[in-house]
Amino acid sequence: MRILAIESSCDETAAAVVDMEPHRRKILSNIVASQVSTHALYGGVVPEIASRAHIEAISMVVRQAQKEAGVSLSDLDAVAVTHTPGLIGCLLVGVSYAKSLAFSAGLPLIPVDHIKAHAAAAYFDHPDLEAPFTALVVSGGHTSIYSVSAPSDFKEIGGTRDDAAGEAFDKVGRIMGLPYPGGAAMDALAAEGYALLEAGEIENITLPSPSLRDSLDFSFSGLKTACVNYIHNYRQINGLDAKAPIPHGEKVRVAVSFTDAAVGGICKTLDHILASRDTKRLVLAGGVAANSHLRSAVSNVAESRGVSLYMPPLKLCGDNGAMVGAQAYFEYTAGVRAGTSLNAFASGEIAVI
Ligand code: KG4
Ligand code: ZN
Repeated sequence: MRILAIESSCDETAAAVVDMEPHRRKILSNIVASQVSTHALYGGVVPEIASRAHIEAISMVVRQAQKEAGVSLSDLDAVAVTHTPGLIGCLLVGVSYAKSLAFSAGLPLIPVDHIKAHAAAAYFDHPDLEAPFTALVVSGGHTSIYSVSAPSDFKEIGGTRDDAAGEAFDKVGRIMGLPYPGGAAMDALAAEGYALLEAGEIENITLPSPSLRDSLDFSFSGLKTACVNYIHNYRQINGLDAKAPIPHGEKVRVAVSFTDAAVGGICKTLDHILASRDTKRLVLAGGVAANSHLRSAVSNVAESRGVSLYMPPLKLCGDNGAMVGAQAYFEYTAGVRAGTSLNAFASGEIAVI
């Protein structure tokens, strides 16, 4: 089944053609037009600018996805689109485009939840992956653990009460003067920091854990604020201006301490969930699933609990159309279809256990 899938929930305009059958999970094309350089000027995503940039890019991105896959509309079996959650203006661009395309070509339209799509990115490299599984989705907008009883049936076991992990990575990176989004640069700095910690050359800064006591939820705002305060204090003590560059060694120390607290907190709650639930499979997905320290720490937790871990390759962790196509296949087989009345919703509709 060939699905043309569109993703425009945040700052990437993406389209892909995937070929999905019970034993075939193939990406024929996967085009992502990133707006990162535009939003970098403002240190974060500006919703109105993002919506306009989607409008400018979407036709070209969809055409490119078809061209690279070598398919015309008549070769397709369905059109899929992310309709929730995300920035409303951004979602509406993808939803409107997908509706017109599906309607004009007489193809079924499949609405897809962005969070489920992140987890579905794991199906491509792991055709053996099947529900039930537990999914840990860590992105710029979410940090949640789900119980997935069927490919389209997600229930949230625990989630963040305030900031998402990716948001906190980016904010700490920004305050240290790292380019937006700071997640990948924080990953590299933390790698330097772990080597220094092992050699006993630095010590961790004491920071609060995002893992809440007596709850399966997270809170990243305390951790984020503690890092921001540490950096402000460092500048004040050393007579530096509010935005003055801080030395590389100090960036390394903040990055490793933040990463250690963030990854440690996520893994503490995850371990508790894996220990208390009968689950044999775990999916780690979302933009922050590209973090090397999170990948290795989650691998250790899964191994110690005898759970098989499924992670998408790095290039499918961030927002893309192929993940939307993969989830769309399972929605389609479960009978999900949308008409021209399909709307976009900023907040998701996944139930909480
Ligand atoms: O899933 P995603 O592409 O967009 C959302 O749905 O939010 O996630 C983007 C987030 C950003 O916060 C970015 O900094 C973070 O993923 N990210 C990382 C890494 N690569 C991307 N965070 C930590 N380490 C990384 N290597
Ligand atoms: Zn995402």
